Amino acid sequence: MENLNSTSGCIKALAPSCEGPSAREAIRSRLEKLNSIPTVPAIVRPLLHYMEKPIDQMEVKRVVDMISCDESIAAQCLRMANSALYFLPQVVKTIHGAVIVLGVRQVREILLACSLLNLLPKEQNSLPALAMWEHSLGCALLGRELARRIDYPEPERAYLAGLLHDLGELINFVAFPGEARAYLARASAEQIPLYDAELASIGFTHCDSGSVVAEMWRLPYHLSEVIRFHHTVQQAKLYPDLVALVSLSDLLCRANELGYGYDEKTLPDPLQAVEWEILGAKAAKLARLGPALLVREMSAQVKQVHKHVQSVFKG
Ligand SMILES: [Fe+2]
Ligand SMILES: [Fe+2]
Repeated sequence: MENLNSTSGCIKALAPSCEGPSAREAIRSRLEKLNSIPTVPAIVRPLLHYMEKPIDQMEVKRVVDMISCDESIAAQCLRMANSALYFLPQVVKTIHGAVIVLGVRQVREILLACSLLNLLPKEQNSLPALAMWEHSLGCALLGRELARRIDYPEPERAYLAGLLHDLGELINFVAFPGEARAYLARASAEQIPLYDAELASIGFTHCDSGSVVAEMWRLPYHLSEVIRFHHTVQQAKLYPDLVALVSLSDLLCRANELGYGYDEKTLPDPLQAVEWEILGAKAAKLARLGPALLVREMSAQVKQVHKHVQSVFKG
């Protein structure tokens, strides 16, 4: 792996990300004019807030109600609950049954993944949807696992942030499909990070478009900061530890065949990542374990994560 002295896979020689109010305004007005941004499903916002609750304060009925309010999400939830992943002894036929058998925590995760999957445009077969969601779910699972190992105080928050960190890729493929296809082809041909191909091809990145949409959707600020800065961690202002944690998960996923369906030859060395230092300020156990051990353990963990991801999306 070639080290490009990058914080998280971004080549510094390229132009900086599209920052500043006027550039963000330009993206926003372009998105608004196109009128093609997927609207956030009604279920997602309350769900994101509910996800933050401690598990013992969650009510089965409330979870069942949330799932049942959207027929297609309910159907997807049942399909996933009955996938090979959960090894259920019998077929689960109702949402209530799924919640009882799987538990609120697992159903909550399934529900969130399903409702986000529904954002994908069904008609665009060029969208690398499967690879994108495998990568996002991989980052969510790996991020939570890393959080638990270093006693990071909010592992569930790490899961959610991992799941949503590349929201901007989805937005780009929906709102600017021609340009997105072109930069993906370039990234894949040159085996460079998508972020770099975006800057070179369209002058802004999925971090820019994703964070603009996160604001339009009024997602919680910690999520929009992760979406905006996960490739430029040192710019994170209020939640640098969460951003660093997601950035590390992203890097470890991409380094272990859970990226965007192509090999990146210019990935930085995860051991040299500045993210360890940022994260260490919030998680004292990290210093005891050390990045070398954690990189080894998490890289081994990716195989498990890969299996889990495969069974969710192909089960
Ligand atoms: Fe990204
Ligand atoms: Fe990513």
